[in-house]
Amino acid sequence: MKILAVIGSPKGKGDGYKIVQQIEEQMTKFGDATFEYLLLKDSNLELCRGCFLCVSRGVDLCPLKDDRIKIEEEIVNADGVILSSPGYVYNVSWLMKNFIDRFAYTNHRPRFFDQKVMLIANSGGAGMEETIEAMRNTFGVGPEIVDELAYVTPPWPLTGKAEAKQRKAVSKAAKRLYDSIVEGKREVPGINKYLRFKFFKNVSSLVKDYLPADYEYYEDKDEYYYDTKISIFKKIAAWFALKIGMFFMRDLSPKDSK
Ligand SMILES: Cc1cc2nc3c(=O)[nH]c(=O)nc-3n(C[C@H](O)[C@H](O)[C@H](O)COP(=O)(O)O)c2cc1C
Repeated sequence: MKILAVIGSPKGKGDGYKIVQQIEEQMTKFGDATFEYLLLKDSNLELCRGCFLCVSRGVDLCPLKDDRIKIEEEIVNADGVILSSPGYVYNVSWLMKNFIDRFAYTNHRPRFFDQKVMLIANSGGAGMEETIEAMRNTFGVGPEIVDELAYVTPPWPLTGKAEAKQRKAVSKAAKRLYDSIVEGKREVPGINKYLRFKFFKNVSSLVKDYLPADYEYYEDKDEYYYDTKISIFKKIAAWFALKIGMFFMRDLSPKDSK
């Protein structure tokens, strides 16, 4: 199996990198696992300029000519993706934020359904939950997030007990990622993911003149992004939730929409 580890630390091979190396060490014990490290600090990924063309008209119109396409191919060719960021003032590093923004269109038009994702945040001890939360939407509802690891890396040595606890958490996370890849199944979406699909599909037709790329993407998708079983309960619950949500958001529709 192939794992792509995206390292968001501006230091490159800092504490976050070392945690991912521990994951690699564990996963290679379970079986065949090849790790590729994408150090964002050294990558050719320019800063998002905020033109919004990737979302509104299609990612092919992104004016930045860099390695985004190559990175996207690397994600597609991987079985698992690890996103690692240090916590900087209760958030991800600027490098990880730029990575997230450069893949913003996957929030509207998800892909990477066959990949499993692990999120890792490390900091001196504060803001790791917020850092993980900031990474949760990196690829929208595309890949399944199989584990989230918060790892304390203060500028002093930890006690043996704390070290052992963190090593155990690493082993567990590595096993979960490995097993989920071996199992190799696309997830059956929960109500939140299903509702998000229904919402985007619904909105894409309401705003088709403004977000034509979304309209085109959702036009031929009826049940979900891929073949899966959606229970009748989920369908009914999502129908009601969507009706209620759209009612409260009615003033946000384009003024020329019917
Ligand atoms: C600009 C900056 C902001 C930081 N903010 C926090 C913070 O809010 N909470 C915290 O516990 N540690 C904070 N830290 C410490 C880092 O999270 C910590 O040193 C981490 O281990 C760095 O990981 P790295 O070596 O992978 O870059 C901050 C460090 C920097 C440079």
